[in-house]
Amino acid sequence: MTNSQAESRPGGLRLAIDGEVATVTLARPERRNAMTPAMWRGLADLGASLPPQVRVVVVRGDGPSFCAGIDLNLLTGTGTGNEEPIPDPRDRDFDQQVASYQAGYLWLRDPRIVSIAAVQGHAIGAGFQLALSCDLRILSDDARLCMKEPALGLVPDLTGTKPLVDIVGLPRAIELCLTARTVTAAEALLLRLAELVVPAAELHAAVADLVAALLATDAAAARATKGLLQQAGGRSLAEQAAEERRIQAELIRSRGRSSPLVEREDLTIL
Ligand code: ACO
Repeated sequence: MTNSQAESRPGGLRLAIDGEVATVTLARPERRNAMTPAMWRGLADLGASLPPQVRVVVVRGDGPSFCAGIDLNLLTGTGTGNEEPIPDPRDRDFDQQVASYQAGYLWLRDPRIVSIAAVQGHAIGAGFQLALSCDLRILSDDARLCMKEPALGLVPDLTGTKPLVDIVGLPRAIELCLTARTVTAAEALLLRLAELVVPAAELHAAVADLVAALLATDAAAARATKGLLQQAGGRSLAEQAAEERRIQAELIRSRGRSSPLVEREDLTIL
């Protein structure tokens, strides 16, 4: 694929790669980007085949909504044309099938990339979980988030429960999920579910600014630091301090000098 040309991908997705930035677009606006097994598998394939130079992944949705969650036709059994049905728990491969859907979400945490969800309108159920799978979320002021699954007799099973608890804490996560209420963009900012909320017309520009700021950082240091930060919650202070030393040594060894600044003549290092 040539740089920055958008390519249609299976499952109602589009992928554009522009140098170090990949933009993944949910492209079923007529269904508010409702998700299907083909879309989940398409996301997983996309994550598995991302070119190694990609450092930032932007996940966005066409039309007025980021994503209205699972395609409800799959739940009502009315079908979605040739779409494969969601698996029955009595199927021998139920666990494997759902794991393959979750793979569409899990790669967004890979330390080699920073993922950003650009959310306008609704992010419901599976769509909210997709936004939660990204490292960072920028919301337009019309964004509405809702973990709808329990209201439909389901649990959220697309890898969203852990980031939700990590971000808002257990009591708030219980309240949000078990009431299935809608969170406005303003509340999302308070709950730290959004890094930034901007007017809808400025969403694209705000994402572009963040992407530029992320790319300005040394690539190897960014990847090593994200990995370090991701593991911090599961370690003691002493363990994390040791890990900082280990990763620093590894990073410097791999570069062959202490810092990329060493080769920059315009900077004076004190
Ligand atoms: N599945 C299938 N079709 C959908 C979905 C969905 N999840 N969401 C919207 N659509 C379709 C509508 O049926 C409608 O189709 P039509 O034009 O043929 O009638 C079209 O998208 C536009 O939807 P509207 O409801 O007209 O759009 P509006 O902007 O008024 O509302 C909203 C958007 C709030 C997202 C609403 O469509 C909605 O509530 N959708 C269902 C959300 C939901 O319950 N998702 C499941 C969550 S649980 C989970 O993900 C596991």
